Amino acid sequence: MTDQLIANATRDAASEATTPLPRPTVRLASFPRGGVAAVFGASGGIGSALSSALTDSRQFDAVLSLSRSTIPGFELTDEDSIARATEQIAGAGEVRLVIIATGMLHQGDRLPEKSWRELDADHLARVFAINATGPALLMKHLLPRLPRTGKSMLAALSARVGSIGDNRLGGWYGYRASKTALNQLVHCAAIELARRAPEAICVSLHPGTVATKLSAPFASASGVAPAEAARHLLGVIDRLAPQDSGGFYDWRGTPVPW
Ligand SMILES: NC(=O)c1ccc[n+]([C@@H]2O[C@H](COP(=O)([O-])OP(=O)(O)OC[C@H]3O[C@@H](n4cnc5c(N)ncnc54)[C@H](OP(=O)(O)O)[C@@H]3O)[C@@H](O)[C@H]2O)c1
Repeated sequence: MTDQLIANATRDAASEATTPLPRPTVRLASFPRGGVAAVFGASGGIGSALSSALTDSRQFDAVLSLSRSTIPGFELTDEDSIARATEQIAGAGEVRLVIIATGMLHQGDRLPEKSWRELDADHLARVFAINATGPALLMKHLLPRLPRTGKSMLAALSARVGSIGDNRLGGWYGYRASKTALNQLVHCAAIELARRAPEAICVSLHPGTVATKLSAPFASASGVAPAEAARHLLGVIDRLAPQDSGGFYDWRGTPVPW
């Protein structure tokens, strides 16, 4: 089954290899050479670009790209599927880097709330399940797999709009609050992780505004291409050190206020 994951990554890399322009490569040399990098949400705009860039880096023996449609796959609301996927990843080698690139801003006709009048219990529960609870379960199963020595990292894609200190516009209640919750979950986990693996890092990252399915309904969101966002994020991931663990950083590596 893990072979299937590696095959997915290799197929992606092969199709990218036909692109005429060479892509600038992020080296990720701060990580020990070898081991496994895994991207959860590799079917998404940013997740798929991250998988390709990780493959290009050649820093890891395997880059595993997981989504709801890979085999094995995972569904954020199904902990058993997360546990199974984690087993497969750990079976492929030392888990050096995990990126959680899943997320939900809108679903079907439902756009983010502009006013408290639009608050809806079912929608809030759904957006929290996808943006906070699901990533928390991924951390529960993956953080104990990070090696006790040498640099390793779990990075969860959050969003600047989850910052309370930076919130001057209001609106987007569910998305904002679920990303705020994600940041707290990441911060808690980082404290626990440091006791077990002092060189391991657990952070939230804001990717910037990126042109993907998630940002598409918002005309004002003219974002960068996913490949550019992936390069920025991997540059930050390469530069982060254990003393940065527990923090919330943007695509430049600048801390975002809580
Ligand atoms: N794009 C931006 O401008 C922007 C800005 C700030 C933060 N972010 C954050 O960056 C992350 C990636 O966003 P994106 O723009 O790449 O979004 P995207 O293209 O819409 O990708 C979302 C990913 O989440 C996965 N996902 C959603 N629900 C899931 C579930 N129940 N179980 C498993 N996987 C699920 C999707 O899988 P399927 O393909 O199976 O649906 C897809 O892989 C998100 O956390 C987002 O909040 C994005």
